[in-house]
Amino acid sequence: MLTSYDYSMAQIVDKSGIDAILVGDSASNVMAGWQTTLPITLDQMIYHGASVVRAVKRALVVIDLPFGSYQGNSKEALNSAIRTMKETGADAIKIEGGEEILDSVNRILSAGIPIMGHLGLTPQSIHKFGTYTVRAKEEAEAQKLIRDAHLLEEAGCFSIVLEKIPAALAARVASEVKIPIIGIGAGHDVDGQVLVLHDMLGITNEFTPRFLRHYAHLSEDISMAVENYVRDVKNVSFPNDKEQY
Ligand code: KIV
Repeated sequence: MLTSYDYSMAQIVDKSGIDAILVGDSASNVMAGWQTTLPITLDQMIYHGASVVRAVKRALVVIDLPFGSYQGNSKEALNSAIRTMKETGADAIKIEGGEEILDSVNRILSAGIPIMGHLGLTPQSIHKFGTYTVRAKEEAEAQKLIRDAHLLEEAGCFSIVLEKIPAALAARVASEVKIPIIGIGAGHDVDGQVLVLHDMLGITNEFTPRFLRHYAHLSEDISMAVENYVRDVKNVSFPNDKEQY
């Protein structure tokens, strides 16, 4: 699984054989330049989601419900999920949290909307955590995470993302629950992996957690292309005779 937020990138990612595309609220960071995922709105997520769905022919498309659109009460959560599904054509939604959002989970599922859960480092709660460091290293938090994973599975979620937790804990969750566990910074003993596309492509360079592997260095490639273009326009070698009418 990889994230995508727009038509052109989603088309490339889908054609390259990815199983699932997450329209993550990390769009708030990588597309809009906010420090956290909190500012992005439901309307903005729907815009990104619909752009991605228009591009995708084969991958499963999951869209994050943004901060403030599902935590307050389950009726609001259901409305947010229904709007997302209706206005984007996505296959499923993702929401962060366990027991504390169980009412919302149950109500959304009761409308026939598939849910991917998200536990561990849940960026929408950054102001509760205070840092983006590894979660659930302490026994009490690890036990709560295991309980929450079981609760989400029993409620009917089809999958869970585990973000930035000890690999041994992720492995335990993956062996205890039957639904697919998708890790990010959670080791290899899970059922699948997800990364933020702009991070793994090396478009964003300031974000360098240990779990991130760069599969390309696109910021350098793009810089080089722009520098070459500026140079060619300034020395009038672009456009040449064949590049005009
Ligand atoms: O918003 C996002 O991109 C995510 C992934 C990091 C799992 O939730």
